[in-house]
Amino acid sequence: MHSSGYRANALLTFAVTILALMCIIASFSDNFNFPSPSTQIQIMKFNWFQKQTHGNDEVSLTMNITADLQSLFTWNTKQLFIFVAAEYETPWNSLNQVSLWDAIIPAKEHAKFWIQTANKYRFIDQGSNLRGKKFNLTLHWHVMPKTGRMFADKLVMSGFRLPDEHG
Ligand SMILES: *[C@@H]1O[C@H](CO)[C@@H](O)[C@H](O)[C@H]1NC(C)=O
Ligand SMILES: *[C@@H]1O[C@H](CO)[C@@H](O)[C@H](O)[C@H]1NC(C)=O
Repeated sequence: MHSSGYRANALLTFAVTILALMCIIASFSDNFNFPSPSTQIQIMKFNWFQKQTHGNDEVSLTMNITADLQSLFTWNTKQLFIFVAAEYETPWNSLNQVSLWDAIIPAKEHAKFWIQTANKYRFIDQGSNLRGKKFNLTLHWHVMPKTGRMFADKLVMSGFRLPDEHG
């Protein structure tokens, strides 16, 4: 009885070791996936652009977001968290980042898409810096694995510009 308990324990230890080893191999083999995601974001229109009563600029815009993120999925990928941010410089901050839209992509089948959407989160500057402002639209993604470490990356699209006048 004593010895069979010992055997069961040894077997369990062995199983746990194998499982841990499989997890390590799984997350390690993920490092050999070289993804090639692509995206394109067009601004369809600026819906309105105003200065709030307390002075901050706010803009509403409609984007057409096209992306193919299928190559980010491996068998070890649980889901992707993605967001589009407007990024611009002001005299006080070298990087202002405003999240405009986000989504969770639960599976590879949903990772190739296009969507026309207005900004889901408000595009407000902490000041009045947006008139004629050049900005980038960046698609950020966080890959959430089934096992192992999360990783993040982004694609930057530059050359956008806000209107010169409120309206
Ligand atoms: C958005 O972009 C996609 C891919 O470039 C295009 O097929 C689609 O027609 C565009 N949608 C609109 C409303 O322009
Ligand atoms: C916008 O993108 C350009 C080109 O990638 C880059 O040089 C610039 O630093 C970016 N601007 C901001 C505010 O991130």
